[in-house]
Amino acid sequence: VYKRQVMTRKLIIDTDPGVDDAMAILMALASPELEILGLTTIFGNAAIDVTTSNALTLLETVSRSDIPVSVGESKPIASGYLGPVPQVHGANGLGDAELVTPNTSASAEGAATFIHRIAAENPGQVTILALGPLTNLAVALQRHPDLPALIDRVVIMGGNARVPGNATPVAEANINNDPEAADLVLGADWPVTMVGLDVTHQINLTGAAIDRITSRESAGARLLGNALPLYRGFFEVTNGLDGIYVHDPATIAYLLDPEAFTTQSWPVRVETESFSRGKTWPNLGDTDEAAPPAWQGRPRIEICTEVDSDSVLRLVEQRLTASA
Ligand code: RIB
Ligand code: CA
Repeated sequence: VYKRQVMTRKLIIDTDPGVDDAMAILMALASPELEILGLTTIFGNAAIDVTTSNALTLLETVSRSDIPVSVGESKPIASGYLGPVPQVHGANGLGDAELVTPNTSASAEGAATFIHRIAAENPGQVTILALGPLTNLAVALQRHPDLPALIDRVVIMGGNARVPGNATPVAEANINNDPEAADLVLGADWPVTMVGLDVTHQINLTGAAIDRITSRESAGARLLGNALPLYRGFFEVTNGLDGIYVHDPATIAYLLDPEAFTTQSWPVRVETESFSRGKTWPNLGDTDEAAPPAWQGRPRIEICTEVDSDSVLRLVEQRLTASA
């Protein structure tokens, strides 16, 4: 029998778990197409010690502590940490679910060092999947200018090209948490895909689908079942939504089925001043020569502008009901 050769994609997941981060990581662990080489943690939904503990707890819960966890930055590169969002992800970052204290610990190697070492050991083969603020990637770029040439692609959950923000009227949370880092990362010489609010605010995982996922008999399903109620409550109260918007898991769907997404190639700048701080501004349509000065010389990145939501939702449910 001819077995379809599944090309596995080597992945480093930079993450601020985070309820939807946890969903994305569980989805990735249930996807044979993806090989997770490590998690790097970042501040964002909660402080760095909390997101790191959650990453360790998550991997222990599904018996995947073989995957190394490297601790990243505790604050943005050029400003202070805006602070946790307990109203969204709970005080403990995972919906205030009852959590076991992890027995494993993070590696002594910091996130930026880990990212560069793994990229150098696997030149041109590693995808960095960034699910939180882009500080670790910016620090890695500053310390290792050769990094972009070693990386296959950077895929981020973040930004908003032509829709309003979620953290502020103008800015998406991950970009808003470190606009200076985002401007560096989106301007570096590596291929980038931006999976932002333009598409994730179109992907609504309903309460019924969540119930189907969390009613499964598995450690991962039980953790999500305890972490999701608070997160669902946030979307119900703020958006009158039945269920949740699929932010971080949408990036896994992109990696598994990029055809479900429509992208446009535009250069992007990130606003760092005043009340539009954190807004990702694409230069639509212009030729590079006609681009206004701030966009001159900026690489075009792939911005997701449309999505086949049903296809993504099927993939999310299929993988999360298959996960360990
Ligand atoms: O705006 C949504 C993003 O911010 C997601 O990655 C969520 O986990 C938070 O980090
Ligand atoms: Ca996240």
